[in-house]
Amino acid sequence: MENSKFQQMIDDFTLDSDAIKEIAASFRYDIDAGVRETGESSLRMLKSYIGLPTGNEKGEYLALDFGGTNLRVVLIRLEGNGKFEVIKKVAKPLVKPGEYDFICADANADELFDFIADMVEEAVDGDHDKKYLLGHTFSFPSAQTNIYNARLIIWTKEFATKGVEGEVVNDLLKAALARKNLSNVEPTAVINDTVAVLLAAAYKLGNVNVGSIYATGHNTCYYETYTSAGLGKPAMVINMESGGFNKLAINKYDYKLDLESEKPYEQRLEKMVSGRYMGELFAYCLDEAWGIGKVSFTSIDISRILADNSDTLNDVCALLKEKTNLDIETEDAVWVKALAETIASRSARVVVATYCGIMWHLYPNGGIPKQYIAVDGSVFEKMPTIKENMQKAIYEIMEDDADKLELVLENGGSALGAALAAAMEPVEG
Ligand code: GLC
Repeated sequence: MENSKFQQMIDDFTLDSDAIKEIAASFRYDIDAGVRETGESSLRMLKSYIGLPTGNEKGEYLALDFGGTNLRVVLIRLEGNGKFEVIKKVAKPLVKPGEYDFICADANADELFDFIADMVEEAVDGDHDKKYLLGHTFSFPSAQTNIYNARLIIWTKEFATKGVEGEVVNDLLKAALARKNLSNVEPTAVINDTVAVLLAAAYKLGNVNVGSIYATGHNTCYYETYTSAGLGKPAMVINMESGGFNKLAINKYDYKLDLESEKPYEQRLEKMVSGRYMGELFAYCLDEAWGIGKVSFTSIDISRILADNSDTLNDVCALLKEKTNLDIETEDAVWVKALAETIASRSARVVVATYCGIMWHLYPNGGIPKQYIAVDGSVFEKMPTIKENMQKAIYEIMEDDADKLELVLENGGSALGAALAAAMEPVEG
């Protein structure tokens, strides 16, 4: 086996302390430029028209969580004091191989939203009379003019359903509900999933300004008061669409992945870090090493490789056999695992660099107060090594301020956040 080939690939994915500090600094620059609307930022910096909850929101709300391949409609009762209860939950995949696929380019908006309306009907037990307010977590870049009106700018995460880009998603949902005689369900608020995570964590814990998703996709939002920028605008949560950050040096595997994706040149950062893409980067490397051709690896495969801590790495060998039919020995498996570790560690380090960039923007004169950074998503929650690598990167970048930041898992915040958004007074402006 040509070890030098693997060593080269590992080097290509390695980011040292200086490199992540530089990413943090240029990310901060783009936040500042975005807040000042100078036109130089690669971040979309989308206004959410919502602030942070008090923790005392109350009432029963429907929450629609639409952002990945699994769709959820949840009936939630907010009880105040950071407490809530899930009364009913309906969950269905948007793709069932051989049966249906609502996210491919052959599907259209009406089919997709009719499917969603059917799930809403199930969640309210077929009740066509009682009035329900619905909060919608819609996890794609949307241009908002108020809390209701969010227009999908562009699909991300390889979604391709026709007739949704450029549309006001709640109008599509409203029309589908009307087709099912469900006009008693009223969509009132749309938020991004990052915003949902932030609202949910603020409701339960308080002391949090940043919400982030680290899963199939990756993105972060934060509470912008406009004070550090000296601008007197109304404070609100900003969905940065940080996955679109593009001031990054990419390697040849990133380049190839980008060209072969649904949306080349878009979502540069997301394509380096998120669960949807890490397995693909890994597959390109194995193809270069062993000519395995187009084999698809997922982030679950990466997790499985990282979880094999045996001396013989039998499970890494077994996985390679299952996926590629290659018979590899422990000696090669060591390289395969080292490669997977480096791809995962690059991801964790870049994500943390963006969080540090936000802190530098919010506290330009230092004095960062102790606070949580709320994160949800399968990569953060389940991929081995990720949390340790993130913690290490926080220390490398923030140095003495590192102990001010605590990463906290906000599990399932999408539905709670949507309910909160329906319950809260929106921000005007
Ligand atoms: C993609 C979407 C973004 C979302 C993220 C996580 O980056 O563009 O809106 O927050 O995925 O689901």
